[in-house]
Amino acid sequence: MPDVILSEARTPAPALAARAARTGSSPVRDILALTARPEVISFAGGLPAPELFDAAGMADAFRHVLAEAPRRVLQYSTTEGDPALRAAVAARYSARGLPTEADDLLVTTGSQQGLSLLATALLEPGDVVLVEDPCYLAALQIFSLAGARVVPVPTDDGGLDPAALDEIAARERPKLLYVIPTFQNPTGRTLSAERRAAVAEVAARRGLWIAEDDPYGELRFEGEPAPWVAAFPGAEDRTALLGSFSKVMAPGLRLGTVRAPAALRRACAIAKQAADLHTSTIDQAAAARYLAVTDLDGHLARVRDAYRARRDALIDGLPAALPEGSRWNRPAGGMFVWATLPPGYDAAALLPEVVKHDVAYVPGAPFFAGAPDPTAARLSFVTHAPEEIREGLGRLRKALEGTRREG
Ligand SMILES: Cc1ncc(COP(=O)(O)O)c(C=O)c1O
Repeated sequence: MPDVILSEARTPAPALAARAARTGSSPVRDILALTARPEVISFAGGLPAPELFDAAGMADAFRHVLAEAPRRVLQYSTTEGDPALRAAVAARYSARGLPTEADDLLVTTGSQQGLSLLATALLEPGDVVLVEDPCYLAALQIFSLAGARVVPVPTDDGGLDPAALDEIAARERPKLLYVIPTFQNPTGRTLSAERRAAVAEVAARRGLWIAEDDPYGELRFEGEPAPWVAAFPGAEDRTALLGSFSKVMAPGLRLGTVRAPAALRRACAIAKQAADLHTSTIDQAAAARYLAVTDLDGHLARVRDAYRARRDALIDGLPAALPEGSRWNRPAGGMFVWATLPPGYDAAALLPEVVKHDVAYVPGAPFFAGAPDPTAARLSFVTHAPEEIREGLGRLRKALEGTRREG
């Protein structure tokens, strides 16, 4: 008799955690996979125009830090982040009316990580998070993974409705409001200064944290920026402001920042130690070098000019491309236009036919935490040049021609 009985029987490995099982892959990522064919003119992805990356400037910055300080930039570094990079970001906030010290900032691996860290630092399963309806999808994923109960706050063409926010905050006792006040994803909408002040006031009175996500604010084509929500009375001690290098430099850098009150920032730093110890030392050093020797505002002016022309090409072409009775906005910046087809249309159901015509958008429905609007679609205008946008809209017109409203 052997000491050990060898058997063919196998016991299955335990199930995934409930949070993993209940959180699906982003429908936008799935659509992007469908539209990856080079012949597709895609209005779906929120991809910055690659030809506008300052590749030469970034290459110089990486070469410089590797040549000058290889032992430092190839080494582990602090969780809080590169001091020069934090100082440069703090100076940009301060210059725009939000006094900020380098030590007020935590460098993150993209602002997406900032949002994850906030969820880890703030949310218990069952906690209520208020979001704009519709809302950035990957934020909904984070809140779902955290086990939070997401409650939608109604919006209109001016963004989040502060009166509805007040009412829902009184009823739901939320811990956190997540808001993208400028050129929101997916709608391109911007909150007025009055609404920002009202959001700050409600948050202070009802006792909630604010996560203010601002990856698009620097992409303003016209008009004057409103101050950050974080700058309004009531919000100072309760706002985590998320910044990103993705839309001003390059998303592949995976660099962002969290500006937050000390106790929350420290909790985020501990969560970050557990997540990835620190953001890439060399990437941070190269970004700091780049900011030190480059006129970022000059670079941004070129990006804004190009994006403004692309927005105009999209807006000018939409009347002919979309069925009569469709509506859309004209954002003053950012990357997205939000369109609604006439009642009875279903943007998700139409997409397979649209993709057959080598053009794509993202259906709006998945962005809603509340009742979805099946007629809505998000159109990104930044990835393609104006002539390709016009060609894409011609294909969209053909794809939608002959489609019937359902029901
Ligand atoms: C509203 C919003 N927040 C955060 C992110 C993530 O940006 P990052 O590349 O800085 O992680 C995005 C990216 O599209 C976004 O639209």
